[in-house]
This record gives sequence, C-alpha cells and structure tokens, in this order.
Amino acid sequence: MATNRTFTMLKPDAVAAGNTGAINKMIEEAGFRIVAMKKTKLSAELAGKFYEIHKERPFYNDLCAYMSSGAIVPMILEKENAVEDFRKLIGATDPKKAAPGTIRALFAKSIDANAIHGSDSDANAEIEGNFFFSQFERF
Ligand code: RTP
Ligand code: MG
Repeated sequence: MATNRTFTMLKPDAVAAGNTGAINKMIEEAGFRIVAMKKTKLSAELAGKFYEIHKERPFYNDLCAYMSSGAIVPMILEKENAVEDFRKLIGATDPKKAAPGTIRALFAKSIDANAIHGSDSDANAEIEGNFFFSQFERF
C-alpha cells in the first residue's frame, strides 16, 4: 500500500541560486505539506552513504562530489500518493527531457545540477527521511 510521505532535497545548485523559496512555493501549492526541513551540508563521505544505492553506476563519484559541494535543503513531505505525485512535479532526471512546468524544467541547470531529489519508492522515502531527521524533527 502506498504511504503518504516522500523525501526530497534541494540540491546545491538550487540553494546557491536562491531558488529555495520559489521551489518550496511550488511544492506547497501542489498540495504537499512540509513535515520536516533543514539547511545543511553533506561531507563527501555522507553523500556516499546517502547514494550507496548508486555505488556501481558510472556517475557515482561525480554525484557524491557534487552533492557535497554546497548547502542542501532536505525535507520530508506529506500528501496522498506522495512518492508518485512528487516525481511528476519534479520531472525527468535530465532537465532537457523534463516536462514543461516541472521543477527541473524550470530550475535545473544540467543532469548533475538538476535542482532537486525525489524518492523513487515508499521504502526509499522512509530510509532517506531517516537519514536526515529524527522523530523529534517531524511535525
Ligand atoms: P534523484 O535520485 O536525485 O531524485 O534523481 P533521479 O531519481 O531522477 O535519478 P537517479 O537515477 O536516481 O540518479 C541520481 C542522480 O544522479 C545523477 N545522474 N547522472 N550522468 C548521468 O547519466 C546521470 N544519471 C543520473 C543525477 O543528478 C540524478 O539526479
Ligand atoms: Mg533517484
């Protein structure tokens, strides 16, 4: 059964460009409630742990270097059908292929600097949310 939470993270390009507010406005206007949120920065080691699932992929090292290059804004979000609806809101991984009006179409710079992360399953949403937030940081 689909749960009603997903996990997202504004990536270093979006935060550095000053797009945190604009992206969060889109997220809230799309009906997602922010359950937990903070601004933080990953070490290369922690980025490696977060993306362990991609360890064998050719882009893993670049991805970990990029994700630890600047501040990020991780969040837990709540909405009915959250995981699937949020993936629709952010659009395809490569901004050139992202549907018009999606967050990546509007804000992503490249396939690496693609503005935002969205969990790809309920199970990963749970794991990723737990990576950043304790139970006392969820409201
Ligand atoms: P995310 O996990 O960040 O929401 O992105 P995604 O599901 O759309 O894409 P995923 O396959 O999980 O890949 C994670 C991130 O790795 C970078 N990537 N680079 N050069 C490449 O072919 C390539 N493929 C993926 C992207 O930054 C992607 O968001
Ligand atoms: Mg992914």
